Amino acid sequence: MPLKERVLAVLEENKGKSVSGSEIAKSVGMTRSAVWKAVKSLRNEGYSICAVTNKGYCLSEENDFLNEHSIVPNLRTKVLGRKLDVFKTVDSTNNFAKSLAQLGAEHGTTVISETQTNGRGRMGRSFYAPTGMGIYMSIVLRPDLSVEHSLLITSCAAVAVADAIAKVSGLECKIKWVNDIYAGNKKLCGILTEASVNVEQGGLEYAIVGIGVNVQNITFPKNISDIATSVKMETGASVSRCVLAAEILNCLEERLENIKDKSFLDDYRRRSNLIGHKIEVTHNDESEIMDCLGVDELGRLLVRMENGEEKAIMSGTVRLIDE
Ligand code: BTN
Repeated sequence: MPLKERVLAVLEENKGKSVSGSEIAKSVGMTRSAVWKAVKSLRNEGYSICAVTNKGYCLSEENDFLNEHSIVPNLRTKVLGRKLDVFKTVDSTNNFAKSLAQLGAEHGTTVISETQTNGRGRMGRSFYAPTGMGIYMSIVLRPDLSVEHSLLITSCAAVAVADAIAKVSGLECKIKWVNDIYAGNKKLCGILTEASVNVEQGGLEYAIVGIGVNVQNITFPKNISDIATSVKMETGASVSRCVLAAEILNCLEERLENIKDKSFLDDYRRRSNLIGHKIEVTHNDESEIMDCLGVDELGRLLVRMENGEEKAIMSGTVRLIDE
């Protein structure tokens, strides 16, 4: 590990507490002046590290700057996030990850950004991505799956994100088919999966799973304030975005390893906020009221229409009618 990262690791371990220059120097095996240089360089990168006379250096507890040095030590993955690009700003992490995938980026390559200038949601919508508040992350996956099974990637990712949020913050979320994470009746996270199909072999060439989680937000713009929430608003606590980003990758890798046995679908159904409820499904500008019966083995929504006919739907926008 480079010297700067070792200094940061000691400061992270003691976040909110002062550690003397000589203690850090001893534990990382370098001189005090090298420690000072490393601290200066970390500050230039945006870390909030104060120096207190006779006490040493202290990484502010408020420091929640998205960066590789604080994400990687929290990874337990074999591949996801091991190739990691962290940006201050990009147009869309999905766009960036897609260009990497087209250049041959390997399975697990991950792109994270502090903000996005053109963050995208499903159905051509935009995704609100203010600096310092959320996790905007895209992962290149090269799963051995047929196109028919591609919907499962999104549902698998939704379960993984809900698992990670629960582990890090204790908040138990619901999943709104197909890809939204809810706390109560407000959205906390959206997932946009974009896949490229290998026409000759009939399978997936790659999929980009884009995840946007509201973490530290305490307010939202007027147009979404009734429908959006964040981990902080739900729990009152500040969870580290670096820890949560790493945990999402940990949970996603674990869930993807078993995607073919579809065991994650039971957890998906358990977290569903639609099953057993009346819903409105909008597809191609036409809306219909239906009963939501379940989610099938391909991740499709099982519904009963008003004429009694039952079917499985693969796409559309769903609104919960009865809470
Ligand atoms: C939705 O709510 O419809 C899906 C939102 C997905 C947003 C994430 S943020 C990271 C990634 N990059 C994007 O441009 N979109 C996804």
